[in-house]
Amino acid sequence: MRVIVAENYEAMSRQAANIISSVVVSKPDCVLGLATGSTPIGMYKELIKRYQEGDLDFSKVKSVNLDEYVGLEPTHDQSYRYFMQTNLFDHVNIDVANTNVPGGLSEDVDAECARYDEVIRSMGGIDIQVLGMGHNGHIGFNEPAEDFPVGTHQVELAQSTIEANARFFATMDEVPRKAVTMGIGSIMLAKQILVVVNGEGKADIVAKAFNGPVTPQVPASILQLHPNVVLVGDKDALSKLKF
Ligand code: GLP
Repeated sequence: MRVIVAENYEAMSRQAANIISSVVVSKPDCVLGLATGSTPIGMYKELIKRYQEGDLDFSKVKSVNLDEYVGLEPTHDQSYRYFMQTNLFDHVNIDVANTNVPGGLSEDVDAECARYDEVIRSMGGIDIQVLGMGHNGHIGFNEPAEDFPVGTHQVELAQSTIEANARFFATMDEVPRKAVTMGIGSIMLAKQILVVVNGEGKADIVAKAFNGPVTPQVPASILQLHPNVVLVGDKDALSKLKF
């Protein structure tokens, strides 16, 4: 694993954008695995800036997102489709038809999960997967569990995740309890993984995930077994990591 220690959030965002940019430049029709959450917002802003300056072209890029809440319309301002539109897709020349977010409204969730796995497979896999990390070590919405789920599946969100997400909703009742997420197997098949973390609130879980045992109780710990991981964090988030 390569670790990049950035001075602050802005520097972390630029370093992460450098890594994504290098993939887009070297392979214009690459498949980007994208993530939501507050951590990658600065990286997306930086990518938009580089597109506006004429340094990046997304016209042939394809994307697959990690996850989506069950029960939210794509136009709901807390859905992950809406997040991706407003934080990236609406501001660059990516073809929206080439962007994929799991469907959270499907009547047949199992069929939707199988369809999503087929989308990833038919694209030839993911060139680079962006990951944030939940405070309990979740990646995508793969919560601590007894085993590592392989493919796309529906999850019941952990109480701590529901509480962490509550800040984005008007009332606790509106916070979705379920999500559809790419599995750990699909994430691990990505050719490269870019983990972004910032803030001292993530320091403990970062150390646990990368210095502790590999266990499904800390889903991100499986990344220790991936051959091509770059961890980009600000110095606060990396303050407890030994490397
Ligand atoms: C949500 C997302 C994750 C994300 C996590 C951390 O749970 N499903 O993909 O990594 O939030 O979010 P933040 O970056 O806001 O800390």
